[in-house]
Amino acid sequence: MTTTIAMAGKGGTGKTSLASLIIRYLLKHNAAPILAVDADANANLGWSLGLTVDKTIGSVLADFNDVKMSIPPGMTKEAYLNLKFNGAVVESKSVDLITMGRGEGAGCYCFPNNVLKEFIDKLAVNYRFLVMDNEAGLEHLSRRTTDNVDELIIVSNHSVKGVRTIGNILDLVKELNLNVKRQSIVINQAPGGVDPMIVEGLNNLGVKADAVVPMDNLIADYDLEQKPLTELPDSSPAVRAVDGLMEKLLAGRLGGAGR
Ligand SMILES: Nc1ncnc2c1ncn2[C@@H]1O[C@H](COP(=O)(O)OP(=O)(O)OP(=O)(O)O)[C@@H](O)[C@H]1O
Ligand SMILES: [Mg+2]
Repeated sequence: MTTTIAMAGKGGTGKTSLASLIIRYLLKHNAAPILAVDADANANLGWSLGLTVDKTIGSVLADFNDVKMSIPPGMTKEAYLNLKFNGAVVESKSVDLITMGRGEGAGCYCFPNNVLKEFIDKLAVNYRFLVMDNEAGLEHLSRRTTDNVDELIIVSNHSVKGVRTIGNILDLVKELNLNVKRQSIVINQAPGGVDPMIVEGLNNLGVKADAVVPMDNLIADYDLEQKPLTELPDSSPAVRAVDGLMEKLLAGRLGGAGR
């Protein structure tokens, strides 16, 4: 069974960084194979994982609709699309990555999107974990990719506005009828402890912070140096906070640290 972990949250709150640290945790605990899905149009999960992305699903879809694809005789459109989608999977030792890329342009994408959904569902069964980095809206979770989420990680910064967005996301999950087994609230880039105003805002939503990830200069340094976040040391405060959350969520389902 594949465990699906999906990120949600307002722009710039740290979804991609935390997705990378979740993958770091899984790697450390020998939970491979892992499929990372970058569902943000402005893709950058590959960078954070140190993987080079040449082709995105978006470009395959665009080619398909531009009739740039000449389908070999005897091959169905569906088989050909699957072949092309396969070509957009970046493989590495323990993590494979599929990058959605920019959204579709004009035209009808129902057919290729349905093929894509099935492709990802079929692909995912080969992995122990699927970690999906998303853009702020969650619509595509139901539209383009999987709608079954075991762990939804809702990321907010340490601000009252951010907490309000958590409320919107919680509403969206209900509206979209997503099958979310559990949702966790993460306050990222916290300056120290959590301000009582934030705690009150969360209380009003009937939730609490499941993890508080501190401001961590190492993340900014790695960003500047373009080093993968999966290589952050165990001593990084952000790594420690994410590891703590993962221990709680997976509650001993994985073995001890392998590296
Ligand atoms: N705990 C942290 N400490 C310090 N810097 C952080 C932390 N988390 C994230 N950042 C920085 O904040 C910025 C935004 O992070 P990130 O790209 O992960 O957010 P995002 O939610 O994925 O953004 P987007 O919505 O644009 O995809 C990045 O420059 C990242 O390096
Ligand atoms: Mg991002």
